[in-house]
Amino acid sequence: MTQTAFKTIAVVGGSGGLGAYLVRALLAAKFDVRVISRPESQAASLSELAAAGATIVRADTSNHDQLVAALRGAEVVIASYGITTLAEQFKLIPAAAAAGVRRYVTGDFGIDPRDAKVPRPFIQFKNDVAAAAAAAGLETTRIYNASFADTTFYDWANLDVASGKITIPGDGTARTAFAHRADVAGFTAAALLHPELSKNAELAIASDILTWNEVVATARKYRPDLQVEYSPLDAIQAKIAADPNPWNTVVLQLLYIFGSGENALTHGSDADKVGYKTTHTLDSTLAAQLKQ
Ligand SMILES: NC(=O)c1ccc[n+]([C@@H]2O[C@H](COP(=O)([O-])OP(=O)(O)OC[C@H]3O[C@@H](n4cnc5c(N)ncnc54)[C@H](OP(=O)(O)O)[C@@H]3O)[C@@H](O)[C@H]2O)c1
Repeated sequence: MTQTAFKTIAVVGGSGGLGAYLVRALLAAKFDVRVISRPESQAASLSELAAAGATIVRADTSNHDQLVAALRGAEVVIASYGITTLAEQFKLIPAAAAAGVRRYVTGDFGIDPRDAKVPRPFIQFKNDVAAAAAAAGLETTRIYNASFADTTFYDWANLDVASGKITIPGDGTARTAFAHRADVAGFTAAALLHPELSKNAELAIASDILTWNEVVATARKYRPDLQVEYSPLDAIQAKIAADPNPWNTVVLQLLYIFGSGENALTHGSDADKVGYKTTHTLDSTLAAQLKQ
């Protein structure tokens, strides 16, 4: 049976880095958009999003009743919490179910867990969230985009191209994927315009799937003097193994995944499937970042 189209979409964390892109893309796709924002939040994006047509709903995201009230009437909720607060989804899921929400878009927006070669707690955690949403009776949509093209080339990953020196995990031959946050958001909105296709679906979006050596060649177009070092995967793995708590080494695990080909979206991009055309490439994103 064909599902009725979605009308109202709530975005928890809609004021955040990815969230604001999601809200703009959903508004552009003509959805009614609610940004669920904590009462104390002073996020600078809120006034711009309200001016663009989003309804800002203040709710304590740790309070079940407030969340239910904020979500009532929405057919879809998107979880766009930040990396350190993804566990808040275990509060959002029961509230979404109690509010009569139909579709839960999980707080994935990263690595495709189907590409994971070894079990990793932070990947299993995302699978657990999706399973919890399904167990609560919600339809799910999981979006995988590998790395955000516009937030990866900074210090946190030793990839600060602007500094003139980066360290590539591995030997440069592994493939890795990128999508700009604007495209992740546009793709998510396009997927939700197809309720049946995106129902209980895992969908991937990438503008580029290329080797790290090709990434370096792209960066050198704008930073010809870029120095590149390589960090052997064995050395990264040794540091991961030295810490008994895998939650302490998430960044190292990400670097390992980047350098081992586990971030290459091997299932390919589903952009065509939902009729979405990417608007940014890694090249255009690095050009914008480095020409500032
Ligand atoms: N693939 C990649 O390269 C990559 C990189 C970064 C992030 N991501 C993913 O993108 C998604 C969004 O991450 P982001 O970095 O864009 O998020 P972010 O900028 O940190 O924004 C998160 C939002 O969560 C809201 N929030 C709700 N409850 C909260 C709580 N208890 N504590 C703190 N904030 C709370 C906040 O909104 P209010 O202040 O309005 O309440 C905040 O704006 C996540 O799924 C993350 O894993 C992927």
